[in-house]
Amino acid sequence: MTALKAATAQQHRLLEAVVDPSRADLTRDGYVALLRKFHGFLHPWERLIASCLSGRLLEIFNYRRKLPWLAADLQALDPPGRTPPPDCPNLPPIQRTAAAIGSWYVIEGSTLGGQLITRRLLGRWGLSPEHGLRYFSGYGNATPTNWTDFRNRAETSVDAAEYQDATAAACDTFDSLRNWFDA
Ligand code: HEM
Repeated sequence: MTALKAATAQQHRLLEAVVDPSRADLTRDGYVALLRKFHGFLHPWERLIASCLSGRLLEIFNYRRKLPWLAADLQALDPPGRTPPPDCPNLPPIQRTAAAIGSWYVIEGSTLGGQLITRRLLGRWGLSPEHGLRYFSGYGNATPTNWTDFRNRAETSVDAAEYQDATAAACDTFDSLRNWFDA
């Protein structure tokens, strides 16, 4: 996990520059557009990652799915009847469990930044964890514990011989996200 963080630190900084929902100049429409982009990524991505996992790992993944939070936010903020967000067509090329875990690391880790974003956005446009901020507030106070649990589970689920696959998948996931948000 330490190697994953080091290998993706630069990509995190680049992505943060493109995707910062707490930017001072962000409008309400811009915020909704960002949520729609996250939905468009996570919708096909959750399906892809679930198809590479099985047993206990799949159970944990299902428990940690974040798409329902985005759906709740869009229901709260998007005008009724608006067309659903389009799916990202260029997901990272992932087939094996180790790669799926490397990619999962990226989305799971984003719950850490979500806490900061939630504190900054609270109250803007009437946002609260129950109204439009469900996705970013994520696990709330349980975030540090959930992050430690995920790290432990990931470390014991990937053999050292597969670290390279996991790292490559994490880097590919950051790239896919940046291309998707840039488009
Ligand atoms: C799609 C967007 C983003 C993704 C995929 C993402 C991903 C990640 C990942 C994987 C980690 C875990 C790093 C580790 O291994 O410890 C992380 C941590 C973090 N992220 Fe992000 N992030 C995103 C956006 C942001 C934004 C916009 C901010 C700030 C406004 C941010 C702030 C942070 C912070 C503060 C941490 C915790 C760093 C630490 O405690 O060491 N992130 N993020």
